Amino acid sequence: MPEVLVEARDLVVRFRQSAGLKKSIIRPVNAVSFTIDRGEILGIVGESGSGKTTLGRTLVGMVQAARGSLQLEGRDVTRLRGKGLSQHWSQVQMIFQDVYNSLNPVYTIEQQLLFPIQRHRSPEALDADQELDRLLRMTGLTPVGTVRQKRPHELSGGQRQRVAAVRALACRPELLIADEPVSMLDVSLRAEVLQLLLKLREELGLTLVYITHDLPTAVYICDRILVMYGGRIVEISGARDVVNKAEHPYTQRLAASATFESAPAASASYGGDHMKSVLLESHRGCPYVLQCPLSMDICRKEAPVFTHVGPNHDVACHAVANARQEEQAL
Ligand SMILES: Nc1ncnc2c1ncn2[C@@H]1O[C@H](COP(=O)(O)OP(=O)(O)O)[C@@H](O)[C@H]1O
Ligand SMILES: [Mg+2]
Repeated sequence: MPEVLVEARDLVVRFRQSAGLKKSIIRPVNAVSFTIDRGEILGIVGESGSGKTTLGRTLVGMVQAARGSLQLEGRDVTRLRGKGLSQHWSQVQMIFQDVYNSLNPVYTIEQQLLFPIQRHRSPEALDADQELDRLLRMTGLTPVGTVRQKRPHELSGGQRQRVAAVRALACRPELLIADEPVSMLDVSLRAEVLQLLLKLREELGLTLVYITHDLPTAVYICDRILVMYGGRIVEISGARDVVNKAEHPYTQRLAASATFESAPAASASYGGDHMKSVLLESHRGCPYVLQCPLSMDICRKEAPVFTHVGPNHDVACHAVANARQEEQAL
């Protein structure tokens, strides 16, 4: 049995928002439950505005859940502050889509990486200088002597993503959350950065969460994929099954519209305003009800719970639940 590293139960995140004079509350993470096994790569996939980044930020403790619980290695980390939070950050790190803005433009790579390495160094580790060289080599940032003296603007987008990875790794985390790490990169650079994530899992035993709106890249590197829509998990399954055995109407649409090429490429992301209204606290029922070809009366009233449809495969859909019940009645 794989060891559970993270367990999220019924997580709810609420934000206040005001559109003009109208104030409302949205729930970009709504009753979300899942586990992350140690050493796995879990994908969080969904279109823009579905709550992926907010869920990632909740896992690192940058956003606090209004309800539900979050456990890391069996310890409650739902509402951390102060020292507890900085301890959490040594175990869980996040790299962001917009790396350029998260690196300091004034300092050289060496200047911005040595400090976190020094701070998190274990007693038996190499000295910080050697440790930096080791991490730069591991992430393909060579020749290390040259890279150390560069400033962020002198590096390519792919190299900057690697620097962000080194900075996250400096804290020696167990869980690394990568939020759209390749979305802003040229297609030609994407595969390289994805390969790097695979290598980090292999060599460091890292557990990874890969957040993306791009299903093909997720299928490419993930073990399991969690599909989000309107702040809820609609389906969770093994990565291949999201394409081959999708049961939720939304996942089916996502899988059908994705272009799977030999090299991972971009795919359509729908986004749009309908997502905002689905996130409103006043919204009842299934988040996909307005788009769904199978929608029934109950879908407007009650959010579906998970139906277990196969190994590692759960679907939150009333139509799927009904179909299963009928099958079992036969
Ligand atoms: N700090 C915040 N305050 C208010 N609303 C927010 C905040 N962060 C995100 N949102 C809203 O939450 C929704 C989900 O956003 P996000 O988690 O970034 O989705 P995704 O990463 O899937 O695109 C969006 O409607 C966004 O505008
Ligand atoms: Mg996002």
